[in-house]
Amino acid sequence: MRYVLIIMMMVGAGMALAQSGSDGLGDSYYPQLGNGGYDVQHYTIELEIDVDANTIDGTAMIEAKATQTLESFNLDLSGLTVESVLVNDEEAAFDRDDTELIITPTTPLEQDDAFTIIVAYSGEPEPINDPGVPFLPIGWLRNDSIIATVSEPSGSMVWYPSNNHPLDKATYTLRITVPEPYVVAANGFLMETTDNGDTTTYDWQTDDPMASYLTAIYIGEFVVEETTLDDGLPIRNYFLADDAERWSEEFASQGEMIAYFSELFGAYPFDVYGSIVVPDDVMPAALETQTLSVFGESSVNPATIAHELVHQWFGNSVSPAAWEDIWLNEGFATYGEALWVENTDGTDGYNEYIAVLHDFAGEAGLAAPADPGISELFGASVYVRGALVLHALRAELGDDVFFDVLREYHTRFANSVARSSDFIAVAEEVSRHDLVALFDAWLYGAEVPPLP
Ligand code: TRP
Ligand code: ZN
Repeated sequence: MRYVLIIMMMVGAGMALAQSGSDGLGDSYYPQLGNGGYDVQHYTIELEIDVDANTIDGTAMIEAKATQTLESFNLDLSGLTVESVLVNDEEAAFDRDDTELIITPTTPLEQDDAFTIIVAYSGEPEPINDPGVPFLPIGWLRNDSIIATVSEPSGSMVWYPSNNHPLDKATYTLRITVPEPYVVAANGFLMETTDNGDTTTYDWQTDDPMASYLTAIYIGEFVVEETTLDDGLPIRNYFLADDAERWSEEFASQGEMIAYFSELFGAYPFDVYGSIVVPDDVMPAALETQTLSVFGESSVNPATIAHELVHQWFGNSVSPAAWEDIWLNEGFATYGEALWVENTDGTDGYNEYIAVLHDFAGEAGLAAPADPGISELFGASVYVRGALVLHALRAELGDDVFFDVLREYHTRFANSVARSSDFIAVAEEVSRHDLVALFDAWLYGAEVPPLP
């Protein structure tokens, strides 16, 4: 009798677990980011934005596939008011718990079911103080005439509900309506602009998979500068009219950079690129939002332009499977700065750049770049010691093999995610070297090793 009861309880608990999608994806730094039980294919985010009032009226249509039976499942959403949720066009029950939007459809979903979720919501987006980004609030930044949704790592959930972790990439339609005379720039291609009289709707489309932290819309009185590179890649840059000439000159080298990095890393991974510049009072930093990097005014310089571009390969096409592996983004992008210096100033310039990084790492006593801890997610160690990992690897393998490793790593994980162990495995496989000692010292070691 007692045993029967215990077995029944176990079955009961097991079934309850099997039928609700988990509220996280097991990320060691962000256990609540992302959700289990389904896989999103496409987001269609429609927003009507009142720029003066700083409010949005939104509809998120999410096309997903169940990966298990789902009696309920979660999306990530921070703040805002949810008015209704439909699952497969039927009104669904929903609940809010911190950043979890918990949805219970009238009919449970079966494993492998394709389904659609439509969330109607509205309100004033509230920026997030993310512990991984103590230097600025994220999600929805603005001054009196510009809005910038810069989100890495958690901020996109302040303006649309999502499976907010790079483990679930998807394609996107961002259909954004703003009052005249505002312009909307966003990821991907501008498919259509509709003049509604007092407002304009901008229809942006991203056809390559994208992590939620790389989605962005930028609203302001921007002018667009459009060009096409020799190989056909379209470039569109967005600048405020007053500074357009100055920024146009600063960003003129982007085409040459794309050609150079494509040779080193393999073809540019997306079908369009460009940059947008915003005033520092909106965002005093730079961010590699997919296909459209954003720069605060004082972050416009060749090294940072190269850095954000390199992220399109390392960070955006190949994204971190876990936030503790962020050096796979920032170490690679910082190393890209040194590579650009090598191209413009030669080997001496490269060596000088690396020496400065190495001196700094030693003097500052920078900790190991692997698993930096959430408060150091974007700390100096990840950038500086992260870049030195690649310098040490290049010194060990020589140029030919080293760049073969980078290209193979990118090819294998393009449009997907990777862990540090994936990179190490590719490096060992391609080079046929035992690299345990090298990564132990440079990636995992507390001490900064001497420069090779
Ligand atoms: N990834 C950015 C870089 O290229 C740094 C960063 C992380 C950031 N989160 C951000 C910048 C949010 C602006 C806003 O180094
Ligand atoms: Zn970076």
